[in-house]
Amino acid sequence: IDTAIVIVAAGSGARLGAGAPKAFVGIDESPILRHCLDGVFAAAPAQVIVVAPEEYLGEALSIAHAAADDADRRAADPRDVAPSPQHAGPAAVVSEQRRDLVTVVAGGATRQSSVAAGLARVWPDVDLVLVHDAARALTPPEVIDRVAERVRETGHGVIAAVDVIDTIKRVDGSRIAAAVDRSELATAQTPQGFRRDVLDTAYERATEEFTDDAALVADAGHDVLRVEGSALAFKITTAADLTRARDLVRRASR
Ligand code: C5P
Repeated sequence: IDTAIVIVAAGSGARLGAGAPKAFVGIDESPILRHCLDGVFAAAPAQVIVVAPEEYLGEALSIAHAAADDADRRAADPRDVAPSPQHAGPAAVVSEQRRDLVTVVAGGATRQSSVAAGLARVWPDVDLVLVHDAARALTPPEVIDRVAERVRETGHGVIAAVDVIDTIKRVDGSRIAAAVDRSELATAQTPQGFRRDVLDTAYERATEEFTDDAALVADAGHDVLRVEGSALAFKITTAADLTRARDLVRRASR
């Protein structure tokens, strides 16, 4: 295994207001974290590091083991199609049991400190690290593979991104200061992938908080490329996002 994916799932979910840390809120009978893991286990094999709130480490481990075991079963029986929108294709087959790929670790107060906690647990032989938001629960496995493959091809940082749909304005308080050319913009998603040495060094040296790993790595002087993301890789943040995810999963399972 030469790839690791750090899934950050230690956020509080304050904006979702569902009474539990966001990754542990149900989409259907399964929580956000489980749906995210279903996509991750259908992608190429990698060490899977789940970064969870301290009080949810046991819960995170059992969710990850269940996802790993179901992915093993699906890989063994291609007729068994998973009821999630990101599972159009057959799962990749790995020789070892997927639960052996799972590491669970406690997160920190910020997303950046949660990623750092995950990075500290990456196995020695790994040379490529993907960072992924659990909250992007319906991210198709193809997007995960696309990011990893592009990092391998180029050696640069790579993020999943999609074109901006809305018209964007630069504002100055309540005044519209300027129109912004949409063709120069993209919406950043995850996964975001990097050479392991580049990401480790950038994290060791970071002295401020960045909103994503691409910004942190770019600040350290590295090129970051984009590949096509997916509308399904939206981040579940608000109650409306959760409703959208529930609708998508319900329709996919019919
Ligand atoms: O809050 P937001 O949805 O932007 O967070 C993005 C991802 O980072 C989520 O999957 C969340 O669980 C994770 N996160 C974390 N630790 C924090 C804050 C956020 O793992 N302290």
